[in-house]
Amino acid sequence: MTQAPNSPIAATTGGLRDIVALSSSICSIENGILTYRGITIDELAENSTFEEVVFLLWNGRLPTRAELDDLRQSIAEQAQLPEGLLAMMKSFPRRTTPMEALRTAASAMAMFDAESEDMSVAANQRKSVRILGQMASVVAAYDRIRNDREPLVPRRDLNLAANFLYMLTGRSPEPLATRALDKAYILHADHELNASTFAARVAAGTLTDMHSALVAAICALKGPLHGGANEQVMRMLNEIGNPDTVDAYIRSKLDNHEKIMGFGHAVYKNGDPRARHLKEMSRQLGKLTGQQRWYEMSVRIEDMVVRTKNLKPNVDFYSASVYHYLHIPADLFTPIFAISRTSGWIAHILEQYSNNKLIRPRAEYIGPRNQHWNSFESR
Ligand code: COA
Repeated sequence: MTQAPNSPIAATTGGLRDIVALSSSICSIENGILTYRGITIDELAENSTFEEVVFLLWNGRLPTRAELDDLRQSIAEQAQLPEGLLAMMKSFPRRTTPMEALRTAASAMAMFDAESEDMSVAANQRKSVRILGQMASVVAAYDRIRNDREPLVPRRDLNLAANFLYMLTGRSPEPLATRALDKAYILHADHELNASTFAARVAAGTLTDMHSALVAAICALKGPLHGGANEQVMRMLNEIGNPDTVDAYIRSKLDNHEKIMGFGHAVYKNGDPRARHLKEMSRQLGKLTGQQRWYEMSVRIEDMVVRTKNLKPNVDFYSASVYHYLHIPADLFTPIFAISRTSGWIAHILEQYSNNKLIRPRAEYIGPRNQHWNSFESR
């Protein structure tokens, strides 16, 4: 970055890399190890469930069995979408993408929520449950609407992952598919001060309402350098088609200085700890479905990118083949990321409210100085 003469403040590294912007007790990334409230992601991915992780993120401790049952039940009960919201979603232009639909519907959710402007702690806790349940319902409902099918009412006997698959397909999901999605939800639930969470906290820091902060986060997640990468990975896998053409495809991308989606990370330089779990899930699902091609292609891409660029896969890389094995359309991958990350966004929004300070950094001015206005005739 060019340094302006006499600049009163100087920018640090571009993109705020390694700048500690605030303190948080929700999620840590230290020495490449990711924890939620001090518990490693490995332990949670192996042993926990998404609803348990949600409770952990929101309350700072694991729930009792009764608390977990209560949360699961409340989410399922409140996940039903208001008729007015569904009517509005049915009026979206046909070319609306699922992520656009989610962004707009999340904003509209506030208009149908009697407590949207109530900033009391109790109201915000109630909204947290509602928002999380409704986010999943919106994504599933919009997929049905765009395919000329009626949205389904969420079932009270299913957890969030199973309910999402049920609302999408109308069929009771296989336990294995539910467990795979549940695990993917756990792995995506929170990730310290990533771009969308930072956006949520910046918005919440103005003491705007929860739905507004949520929409800010969704907008930031949508970009291909953040949550949008998983959909791009699937596009790449489709373009490549089979493992034998991987090398030529990746070589040509790198020769053209194009980024390979799903690789590299702003924080992890020695690999994303979430990728290992998703890779194993992709392997198992490939074997189970007898369609190893997507997994094999992914592994070959990984080998080549590691070998040539020393870049490791991030959370988005193997999640693409995992969701594909679950028969989820590629343009729902980022909305699914949003469903899971809503749990983390909410934890951060509530933490921000509980000890708020307006987030207002400075910019280093590098433009011209001592300029003067002049009339049109002399410009
Ligand atoms: N493919 C090819 N090259 C990559 C790359 C990728 N996925 N990610 C980074 N690089 C290269 C850059 O081109 C750059 O090379 P240069 O120094 O020769 O210009 C160098 O590595 C540093 O890139 P930069 O974008 O500054 O790294 P970063 O650590 O700040 O960025 C990401 C992190 C995530 C933005 C970046 O790795 C990326 O764009 N990845 C692809 C998108 C993605 O998967 N996003 C999801 C993240 S979870």
